[in-house]
Amino acid sequence: MRVLVTGNMGYIGPLVVEQLRETRPDAELAGLDTGFFANCLTGTTLLPERRLDCQYFGDVRAVPPAALDGTDGVVHLAGVSNDPIGTTFEAATLDVNHVATVSLARAAKAAGARSFVFASSCSVYGLAEDGLRTEASGTGPLTAYAKSKLLAERDLAELADESFSITSLRFATACGMSDRLRLDLVLNDFVAGAHAFREITILSDGTPWRPLIHVRDMARAIDWALDRPAANGGAFLALNTGSDEWNYQIRELADTVASVVPGVEVSVREDAPPDARSYKVSFARFRELAPDDQPQVSLREAIEDLSEGLGRMGFSDPDFRNSTLVRLRVLNDLRGSGLVTDELEWAGAAETVRG
Ligand SMILES: NC(=O)c1ccc[n+]([C@@H]2O[C@H](COP(=O)([O-])OP(=O)(O)OC[C@H]3O[C@@H](n4cnc5c(N)ncnc54)[C@H](O)[C@@H]3O)[C@@H](O)[C@H]2O)c1
Repeated sequence: MRVLVTGNMGYIGPLVVEQLRETRPDAELAGLDTGFFANCLTGTTLLPERRLDCQYFGDVRAVPPAALDGTDGVVHLAGVSNDPIGTTFEAATLDVNHVATVSLARAAKAAGARSFVFASSCSVYGLAEDGLRTEASGTGPLTAYAKSKLLAERDLAELADESFSITSLRFATACGMSDRLRLDLVLNDFVAGAHAFREITILSDGTPWRPLIHVRDMARAIDWALDRPAANGGAFLALNTGSDEWNYQIRELADTVASVVPGVEVSVREDAPPDARSYKVSFARFRELAPDDQPQVSLREAIEDLSEGLGRMGFSDPDFRNSTLVRLRVLNDLRGSGLVTDELEWAGAAETVRG
């Protein structure tokens, strides 16, 4: 089997590659990434791409045909990965997350692939506090990022058939340690705050709901989806991916971190404006379709694992919200130094500038 993982050099990618390498030791694994965060390694001694058979450096808007040659399955992670980047680079977000995703799936199908797994997001539901959202609920994307994921799903649905299954995993918000850790994710931010200044600052009033999932559990779900036959859920399947127990209120997350990391205070902004990013999601269909591939990591384990990882990194930066552990900051820096354009493409200069 040959699998192409796009966006493998980000936060989730290294865990996905590790998982696939373990469950499919004989598979040929290739990666394709433009490398925006290639040097944002965190606490690892092994370059994660060493687990691959082949690494392509390229843009998903212009996939080299060789990358898809003989490919059986594609895991598509590459893209603009959160709301703040989507707001700053709106046109590129729609172009990469929507248009390029659909072209890639079309090219993969033409090259003979049998499955395509797309990393979508529960944020497609928008504000959803009044009951659990299922895949049959209406959507209400509030940001360019969420809209781009939903538009991609709409067009991917047209491409799926009996011999080409497409699974759009609507992931809960990720958390956990990675070889390329991000701290612009809520639980990771709280654990970092707990370590950097013994305080967790909640930027809302603490009441918003947010489903979470550990990166290792995301990788397991992706592994399952790669082998999903069309008969299990349909040729195209949009699936909430997480677990009902991991629908948390922000305040509860902070309190749990404070109970695991000693000597930490939680501060809440009582006067904060309501946070529209509040949603509760049902993961019943995922349980029904993938009973053997359900999330396994506990919240406590996730916090301990992050604490350990931050320790390995020698992490203590109180200004981490403005550091290279935040994806938007890295992209703004690259743009500021002329290496990346407003369209999130490498500028010509990138080829000649030496680090
Ligand atoms: N982290 C989460 O909470 C979460 C939740 C739901 C869905 N997702 C989705 O999962 C995917 C991976 O997320 P992540 O947290 O690893 O993000 P990340 O930003 O850490 O990684 C994204 C990777 O895609 C690459 N990339 C970006 N634009 C590209 C382009 N045009 N061509 C080739 N490569 C490109 C980047 O270089 C990077 O390595 C994203 O599509 C994201 O939207 C993430």
